[in-house]
Amino acid sequence: MEDTYNTLGDMNFRGKRVLLRVDINCPMDRQTLKIINDSRIRAVIPTIRELMGKKAKVVILAHQSRKGKWDFTDLSQHAAILARDLNAPVKYVDDVIGEKAVAAIKEVGEGEVLLLGNVRSIDSEVAKLDSAGHSKGEIVTALAPLFDIYVCDAFGAAHRSQCSLVGFEEVLPSASGRLMAKEMYALRTIFNNPRRPSVFILGGAKFGDIPHMIERVLGNGTADTVIVVGLAGNAFLMARGVDIGGASRVPLAEELTPENFARAKEVMAKFGQKILLPVDVAVEKDGKRVSVLTGDMAEAGAALDIGDKSIEIFRKVIEQAKTSFMSGPAGMFEKPGFENGTKAIMNAMVDS
Ligand code: 3PG
Repeated sequence: MEDTYNTLGDMNFRGKRVLLRVDINCPMDRQTLKIINDSRIRAVIPTIRELMGKKAKVVILAHQSRKGKWDFTDLSQHAAILARDLNAPVKYVDDVIGEKAVAAIKEVGEGEVLLLGNVRSIDSEVAKLDSAGHSKGEIVTALAPLFDIYVCDAFGAAHRSQCSLVGFEEVLPSASGRLMAKEMYALRTIFNNPRRPSVFILGGAKFGDIPHMIERVLGNGTADTVIVVGLAGNAFLMARGVDIGGASRVPLAEELTPENFARAKEVMAKFGQKILLPVDVAVEKDGKRVSVLTGDMAEAGAALDIGDKSIEIFRKVIEQAKTSFMSGPAGMFEKPGFENGTKAIMNAMVDS
């Protein structure tokens, strides 16, 4: 990993129309469909502010979830939060490549900001193509002629080969935003020169991405140990043959495809000795957090966090690490009592 990309300091943005791709895909409340955590929006504010200050005409492209999922929505809420955090107007148009979008893009003035609609409302955004293929697609064809520069600050989505993430760099002068540059710097240190022992803690709900990541970091020796927690941890327990119970299987439904499950089993067979899974999980009983051994999960309620024994085991491993990397929480941290695992892991990382 080397610094072979431009950042915001390398280009002149004055009066230029800039297409800025960000990842402001936010967790939402299932009942109200309101955004419940806006940290991803806050993370891209410095880039937007800097572009506004440089008198660019800023047009933002972003996604929320994906078609078929319950939290696939338009981006009007995101626009309101952006406006609040920037303390400046953010115009929103619920269109990506149509006439309304084109007209709104042409109207953006220097230092002004426009947010386009959910880019994943266009099917070709997620077509399985490489950057050359995407650069010839309808989104790039429609938008690229309207812009001078493409800036990518969508760090959280940058692992996807999707049109708005890889297609524009083929045809427009491009730069990475401040968030992307900062994260790339951190990752470069971890991947190029990890101090040993190096521990990767992989969690969250997106179990499907994790077998590939384990294969990569244990396969090339970047990590000495991988700890799998969160919903992904539950899925890996299943791959190890643990009966996690119906209540814990429900939230895995979308990600636990036969293909993902088979890949998890493969990496367990190949690297099992270097993969640590929870020995217990936390469930809710009479409104309280209770730890249950994984062997008893079949009869327990939904696992909402790693259990107290697992916290202790993982804490020791992480505290002894010289490099630690975490992606995704260990449990449902937004639910009081079930943030313990995530917090303990983060504290151990700070202490190590
Ligand atoms: C994320 O939240 O992980 C990114 O926004 C990517 O979303 P995706 O997993 O739906 O592609």
